[in-house]
Amino acid sequence: MPALLEVRDLTVHYTSGNGAPAVAVDELSLDVEEGEVVGLLGESGCGKTTLLLAILGLLPESAHVVKGSIRFRGRELRTLSGAELRGLRGAEVSIIFQEPALALNPVRRVGPQVAEVVRAHRRWSRRRCREEALSMLAEVGFTAPERVHDSYPHELSGGERQRVVIAQALACRPALILADEPTASLDSTTQAELRALLGALQSRFGLALLLVSHDLGALAALAHRVLVMYAGRLVEAGGPTQVFGDPLHPYSRGLLRALPRAPDPAGSREQRIPPPIPGMSPDPAHLPPGCAFEPRCPDRLPPCVERPPQETRLADGRHVRCFKYGG
Ligand SMILES: Nc1ncnc2c1ncn2[C@@H]1O[C@H](COP(=O)(O)OP(=O)(O)OP(=O)(O)O)[C@@H](O)[C@H]1O
Ligand SMILES: [Mg+2]
Repeated sequence: MPALLEVRDLTVHYTSGNGAPAVAVDELSLDVEEGEVVGLLGESGCGKTTLLLAILGLLPESAHVVKGSIRFRGRELRTLSGAELRGLRGAEVSIIFQEPALALNPVRRVGPQVAEVVRAHRRWSRRRCREEALSMLAEVGFTAPERVHDSYPHELSGGERQRVVIAQALACRPALILADEPTASLDSTTQAELRALLGALQSRFGLALLLVSHDLGALAALAHRVLVMYAGRLVEAGGPTQVFGDPLHPYSRGLLRALPRAPDPAGSREQRIPPPIPGMSPDPAHLPPGCAFEPRCPDRLPPCVERPPQETRLADGRHVRCFKYGG
């Protein structure tokens, strides 16, 4: 049985002017199974958003899929026409963007913006689409969906707007949602509420989620598998307990050390600022010939400068791209 989503060897370049192309996604492969939550982690600029946009054929003009395949339910998405992709987006695969404030039209009431997603994919009457929108607003936790339906985006809080965006994404009951840091711009209480909502909706609808997040709490609670990305490549994949408890790749170790954890319940008032990984991510237009993490790596070995490591599958089911483990 093929996985719900199968990405193989995907490479995406951005070209601008006459300079070398920027390699945003580099020979990346991943699977998402039906009903599975896959967390994707990696520092700014490593290619997470580019990957999600490429999956749904939403890349800007300056980006090119150079090679690879993207299959959803066994069907190659790269060769679909614009109309076929529009039929798929929202109905079978939805995306929640990084900036919830930009996802809604500010001069229109939010209810019709949910209803129009339904209308785009179903031959239903206006009235039935409106009822469906109201029921989706109730699904995402609004106790007064009628009031929210008639509100403009600016009349809602950031957390409420993100609930509306989730209602839009869910409106046609897709099998897969690509979520790009859906809670990043919210305060920690609202983040926790939305994290619980996503978890509840995921199990209620049997949704598969490809969830980009730096919220380790959310990933530990929701993800069945966690992928770590660096400079356009996957460097490590495993269960959340494996990756968070005992990261293998030197980059994953540095990244997890550098991400803030939940506050200490013992009540220490001292806010520890975690040390960042020394050095900078490589320029995607000038990636080194070897491992892209080598210049920052505390564990570098002689082959690391010569060629990029291949993926090694370990006995416990984890995957890692590092010469320490084979490569
Ligand atoms: N429109 C664009 N034109 C040229 N380069 C781009 C464009 N968008 C992104 N890039 C480059 O592609 C690389 C990957 O960017 P991307 O936005 O996918 O990263 P990201 O992992 O989503 O980062 P963040 O965590 O900040 O959202 C970066 O080096 C970025 O500078
Ligand atoms: Mg991004």
